[in-house]
Amino acid sequence: MNHSHQKVPKEIGLDHSLELLKEGYYFIMNRSEKFDSRVVQTRLLGEKTYCLIGQEAAELFYDTDKFFRKEAAPVVAQKTLLGMGGVQGLDGDEHRHRKAMFMSLMTKESLKEIQSIVKEEWTRYLEAHEKEVKVFEAAKLVLARTALRWTGVPSHEHDADDWASKLSPLFEMASKVGPKHLKSRWSRVQLESRLEKLVKQVRNRSLDVERHRAFYHVVWHRDENGELLDPHIVAVEILNLLRPIVAIAVYLDFIFLAINDYPKEAELAKQGYDERHRFIQEVRRYYPFFPFAIARVKKDFMWKGYTFKKNTMTLLDLYGTNHDPELWDEPHQFMPKRFEKWEGNPFDFIPQGGGEFDIGHRCAGEWLTVDIMQVTLDYFLNHVNYELPKQKPDYRMNDIPPIPGMKIYIKH
Ligand code: HEM
Repeated sequence: MNHSHQKVPKEIGLDHSLELLKEGYYFIMNRSEKFDSRVVQTRLLGEKTYCLIGQEAAELFYDTDKFFRKEAAPVVAQKTLLGMGGVQGLDGDEHRHRKAMFMSLMTKESLKEIQSIVKEEWTRYLEAHEKEVKVFEAAKLVLARTALRWTGVPSHEHDADDWASKLSPLFEMASKVGPKHLKSRWSRVQLESRLEKLVKQVRNRSLDVERHRAFYHVVWHRDENGELLDPHIVAVEILNLLRPIVAIAVYLDFIFLAINDYPKEAELAKQGYDERHRFIQEVRRYYPFFPFAIARVKKDFMWKGYTFKKNTMTLLDLYGTNHDPELWDEPHQFMPKRFEKWEGNPFDFIPQGGGEFDIGHRCAGEWLTVDIMQVTLDYFLNHVNYELPKQKPDYRMNDIPPIPGMKIYIKH
């Protein structure tokens, strides 16, 4: 093959943001197929953008000599989903230091603890509610309570509803346009200001919080220069824990959709931890959630003969890589069994980003997510008497994230 300089295959047109809204999770796959290429150039939000797909492309994307994250994400995402000044937009030593703070919260004991909290909260929820349970709505509340308890953010019993209703627009509505998008922004403003106040109170000793928990830890965390973080940054990072824990509700809703649609696989998952683990991995591979990760080119470089230009926004297709026929047999079939053979490559199965946790930007909460899914699946399959009513759940591939809206009936 001729690896001399070539331009990245380019989609012509002024801007393709509207197609992204229409095609959703298929946007990059469609272009990759059309141009028969693992990298395609398009234009999004008025900017030249590279789209990458597949395992080798993921290895490239997570090479920190080639890509950086500072202000990589569009401002609309920073004002809603991510916040400004958080770990997602850091590079180099600053990133490593901040990321180590997140990873230090994910000890075996603390992951075990969050599993028992989530079980308690499910039990409390089911005891207090009527027979019919809307999974997504219930899970958001259960997870908000869990997140507040686990992080040690001071809150009253009756506040959890309010937290849940403000945390969920951050991920449910961030990618929407119009009033929903504004709701997402407004929720972030309110939550950041609420948390900043608490940070100041802890620092001036007018509020006491549990010392072994994440909130205390982040409030007193020192950066690589030995300085405390700005209270606003503390708020952003605490929301980087609370928001995605509540967002696990999306995966829990998909778990029930999978139980509904694949009863044989669900029956198998009753048997033990490993069977459930494979079921959960397949839920995270098969269903769409986080569409792509975003970075920018650090300096001009060549890859497979293509020239990448400095500063260009670059998207790595997470959904597309998880459905890449070069990596997965029958990628559009739900088959938990495939994970018996998966070797744990950090770049082929990337629902929560790829690469390393410590030096790269792979999701800090991946183990926590899997643990919460495991304990919830076990709880409902083996300890709760419930049935799935006849329903026609559906979700759209251009809703980010899609919510199937499952219902279950509890038989007390
Ligand atoms: C609900 C399911 C979740 C999904 C689908 C998800 C997905 C992701 C993705 C795609 C990234 C970005 C990867 C990249 O930029 O390369 C990420 C980063 C991150 N996630 Fe998650 N996540 C989830 C749950 C969690 C949880 C439960 C937590 C914390 C308790 C968490 C904390 C973080 C943090 C702090 C980052 C930034 C890491 C960095 O920039 O170094 N996530 N997540």
